Amino acid sequence: MPPPHHNIPHSDTDILIIGSGGAGLFAALHAARTNPALTITLIAKGLIGKSGCTRMVQGGYNAAVVKNDSITRHFMDTIIGGKWLPNQDMAWRLCETAVTRIHELENEIGCFFDRNPDGSLHGKAFAGQSRDRTLHKSDLTGIEIINRLMEKVTTTPQVQCLNEHRALRLIPAKDQKTIAGALVLDIAHGSYYFIAAKAVLLATGAGPTMYRYHTPSADKTCDGLAMALDLGLPLRDMEMVQFHPTGLLGGDDTRMTGTVLEEGLRGAGGHLLNDEGSRFMHNYDKAGERATRDIVSRAMYAEMQAGRRLYISMAHLGSNKVAQQFPGMVKRCADCGFDLAGGKVEVVPTAHYMMGGVITNLDTATSINGLFVAGEDCGGVHGANRLGGNGVANSTVFGGIAGEAMAHYATGHNGWQDPDATALDKAIALAETPFAIKNKNTAKHSKDIFALGDALATTMWDNVGVMRDESGLQKARDKLSDYQTALTSIGLGETRAFNMSWQAWLNMHSLLATAQAITTASLTRENSCGSHHRQDFPHDMPADQAAFTIIQQQGDTLSAKTQRVDFTLVKPGESLV
Ligand code: FUM
Repeated sequence: MPPPHHNIPHSDTDILIIGSGGAGLFAALHAARTNPALTITLIAKGLIGKSGCTRMVQGGYNAAVVKNDSITRHFMDTIIGGKWLPNQDMAWRLCETAVTRIHELENEIGCFFDRNPDGSLHGKAFAGQSRDRTLHKSDLTGIEIINRLMEKVTTTPQVQCLNEHRALRLIPAKDQKTIAGALVLDIAHGSYYFIAAKAVLLATGAGPTMYRYHTPSADKTCDGLAMALDLGLPLRDMEMVQFHPTGLLGGDDTRMTGTVLEEGLRGAGGHLLNDEGSRFMHNYDKAGERATRDIVSRAMYAEMQAGRRLYISMAHLGSNKVAQQFPGMVKRCADCGFDLAGGKVEVVPTAHYMMGGVITNLDTATSINGLFVAGEDCGGVHGANRLGGNGVANSTVFGGIAGEAMAHYATGHNGWQDPDATALDKAIALAETPFAIKNKNTAKHSKDIFALGDALATTMWDNVGVMRDESGLQKARDKLSDYQTALTSIGLGETRAFNMSWQAWLNMHSLLATAQAITTASLTRENSCGSHHRQDFPHDMPADQAAFTIIQQQGDTLSAKTQRVDFTLVKPGESLV
């Protein structure tokens, strides 16, 4: 029997941070600095510093610090790359604060980034950028950032870090307008508890892992977006799923398939070849391999549809030079039996990032009092296409902003809100679903969850992927609804402690909810724009009529609408540079 909400343990904290990537860790540090008297609890679904995607960042961090660059240039590249869909004030805040953050990362957090012989920071060339502004630590930048951040956070006395704790549901107060806290599952013990908080940050990092080929770490399963939908929050741009062009295609037997070979390879002059040995990108775009990710992925997909296999080739740049410049990528490929420096490596577009997410204001606050969202769970910064290097900039910039905003909010609110008991009971009942199934064959059912994951990955790749049309999207919508029904009939054994089949069940619940939102938004947008390409509506959205989709869950259904972009800083046809 599921425990009723009043029997589960409660704890309280001033600030609860859900997620331990760049956004969550920066939020913790900035909140602690803003008001050292506050208590802060940070929960990680995996292990802090080891899970999530900040650790996986390869290419680097965009900040306008190299010679002849400016915040305005970075901003214009972000707006044009995002097809005029970004929220311009958020994009400006990103570009402006990224400069402050990079100095903070070096001078306060202790990161070292690669430098030029004259001591200035070295910037890599990334697609869609008018300057080589992607700052980096060789080709494994994220390890440097997350390790130093983790050291700082775990030695900040006000911050309590809880590993292997996943949030199951955001719990509103009885007024439904204010956050009360979150229902949390301690994965190791399989036990629930409620953490009451005055301010809560959602920073789980989204992650489109519902596609056959994907880059994010497996622990990222859109839990934050699913929780936001469940709470009725409006999500924008959900059709905008970014496919990174160069995912490693290492075969079905390696988890490395789908992982990124970084964009710096193309930036440094890498060639994309088809199996006829032709550099095909110039048939699609004058920028060739340096076109933005949406364009390159679409060209690659078209080549694949024509039956061709695709490769990245670096050998013409000199194998020693490539090995020196990209040691992480060369090793990754070697682990899978490929010679990146001297040969060619098979690649495939791979689901990388969700531009869509929760609508927030500039200081990351949402329409629920006390609830803040930052990083990939938040929408609006990147519009229809995120530039490489703007992802970790986004999480660290807005994570820090959220930390300050939450500290001010929590300081001004003395007490904790009583949780809405119905929401707590519903959340526990949902999580208990697989234990309540009668006559179950546990071993078979555990396998069924993973089979369902494979079916979802195929449906999303085939029908809601790089190219879309109405019939495919409708088909996906029907199948997703069947998968939802199938999920609720899968039963599990009684063990809750470290039950990884249960975790997979919960992951599938989040992925399905988010997949429905992506599909609904994709059906709603009847034009093509950045990463969203409709074969039945191939015309590009006119920039001066840029409008974004908004998806909101009401009861069991999703509503969809569109809203025109407010060009607050620059209009299509104009430039600030
Ligand atoms: O290609 C890359 O290194 C990815 C970077 C990013 O998505 O920001």
